[in-house]
Amino acid sequence: MKARACANIALVKYWGKRDAALNLPAAGSLSLTLAELVTETTVEFDRALPRDELLLDDKPAPADRVTTVLDLVRTAAQLTSRARVTSRNMFPTASGLASSASGFAALAVAAAGAAGLTLDGRQLSLIARRGSGSAARSIFGGFVHMHAGAHADGSDAFAHPIESPLVERIRMVIAIVGGGAPKAHGSRDAMTHVAATSPLYAAWLALVPKDLAAAETAIVNGDLQALGELAEANALAMHASAIAARPAIIYWQPATLAALAAVRELRARGHAAWATMDAGPHVKVLTTADDANAVAQGLIAVDGVTRTLISAVGGPATLVD
Ligand code: PMV
Repeated sequence: MKARACANIALVKYWGKRDAALNLPAAGSLSLTLAELVTETTVEFDRALPRDELLLDDKPAPADRVTTVLDLVRTAAQLTSRARVTSRNMFPTASGLASSASGFAALAVAAAGAAGLTLDGRQLSLIARRGSGSAARSIFGGFVHMHAGAHADGSDAFAHPIESPLVERIRMVIAIVGGGAPKAHGSRDAMTHVAATSPLYAAWLALVPKDLAAAETAIVNGDLQALGELAEANALAMHASAIAARPAIIYWQPATLAALAAVRELRARGHAAWATMDAGPHVKVLTTADDANAVAQGLIAVDGVTRTLISAVGGPATLVD
């Protein structure tokens, strides 16, 4: 059974866990699903297999997190067979472009389909979360709110979509810095290290609920400027907490800062443009369909930006067959 899911970019970041084993976030997060960043994943249960197998972009890869997700599906479907999983990203993997989000969302949908389960989005997001926190958000299209939840078993840490009049009008421009090379610190270990050592982490955690509430209001009201300003400030706060960790985690390269300056310059010239960055050097810019080309041109002119990509808002994860 084959499924397709789009990656998402957080506008209010997920950065820190309240339970590592269940992969429960310490705070909520909010994202935008992107149509251009697609992963396709196929799952076949096969009684003859001794263990789960993963082929990621045509190469054998460790399957432990895949097994965590498949085990949840197997338990729900009362199935014991191991599975052959084939996953293909249509964009650079492990480069801070959140391929784990689309990958585990597609895996949850394909595995549930292959096991004959009919699950709703909330149930699928709970399963996808066990692979990667951000994957819970890629189950849905458009703007998505992931809840931190309060239950110790994580049963209320699911995602849900937020309706918005902005969806047709907005675009995200992605500026790839440094050719999409693999990132230096995986987000999973990095957020744990930041939570344990950064003197700014407590301030980050206190900020998130306020940013979430303000972002949700802006999304519902269609206030792109308020949302953009908030998303840029939230990303900078997340990175500030990482930079202050001991030892420091610095995802930025010189071209990242140059791209941030280009975004401010674009704004000064009257374009809609607000930046966000994740666990890598790339800069993603929230803009409008009208301004997307000007923003992409402004970013590709930056020394060290090797490629730009314009994405419209993506839809939910779905079965392809
Ligand atoms: O879902 P993970 O474990 O790949 O963590 C994602 C972390 C960030 O991309 C930095 C932020 C986010 O909310 O997507």
